[in-house]
Amino acid sequence: MNASALLNAGRSLAVERAERLSEADLADLAEATDAAIIEGGGFGWVEPQGRAALERHFRGVLLVPERELFVARLDGHPVGSALLVRPPRHNEAQAFAATLTHAYIAPYARGFGLARLLVEKLEERAAALGHRVINLDVRETQATAIALFESLGYVHWGTHPYYARVKGQTVAGRFYAKTLEPGRGRSTGALIDSAN
Ligand SMILES: CC(C)(COP(=O)(O)OP(=O)(O)OC[C@H]1O[C@@H](n2cnc3c(N)ncnc32)[C@H](O)[C@@H]1OP(=O)(O)O)[C@@H](O)C(=O)NCCC(=O)NCCS
Repeated sequence: MNASALLNAGRSLAVERAERLSEADLADLAEATDAAIIEGGGFGWVEPQGRAALERHFRGVLLVPERELFVARLDGHPVGSALLVRPPRHNEAQAFAATLTHAYIAPYARGFGLARLLVEKLEERAAALGHRVINLDVRETQATAIALFESLGYVHWGTHPYYARVKGQTVAGRFYAKTLEPGRGRSTGALIDSAN
């Protein structure tokens, strides 16, 4: 048994697309989110928000048609999440692309492989919806996230020098893209090449 299998022995890992969340799930998710913010954030928030504000935030996310929430569970409890953001209907020119954003796992649930599973499930859903590209951006200080995205095939195409302001410091951000194969129609490679 390798180290990761040993670590995972007896633990249950799951990622689901959430269409509704119970009160208990919302409380767990708020706790996980604040724990990740306190540990260093890296996914938008800088200051812990408190349970009530985060529960309102997640209830709001579930109402937005272009946002899909993916929740990671360890032993059944929400410990992290990510968003798949689809282009609005008026953006026909970019309907082929979607964005992965706001991805994090609570510090107490890291190292089990949940973030990898989260990104893979989100990609599967994006491909099933017909998207050909996933875009994402990340602060250049988020070394673990960068290692994860690069190992999953995301291509770094640019760096924004003034990407974020965090605790009085300007932080650069790395921009990534990955092509997907929706499994129907022309291959994404052929589609992209035909435009050149
Ligand atoms: C990035 C993050 C989501 C990873 O969560 P995780 O569940 O621990 O990640 P996983 O267990 O799925 O590991 C994924 C990869 O991350 C890397 N990794 C995980 N833990 C690591 C550690 N302690 N040190 C270095 N690399 C590590 C490995 O490359 C691992 O790949 P492997 O599957 O080949 O071993 C988590 O660290 C986090 O929430 N960070 C803060 C928020 C953030 O940076 N979000 C990204 C903004 S979009």
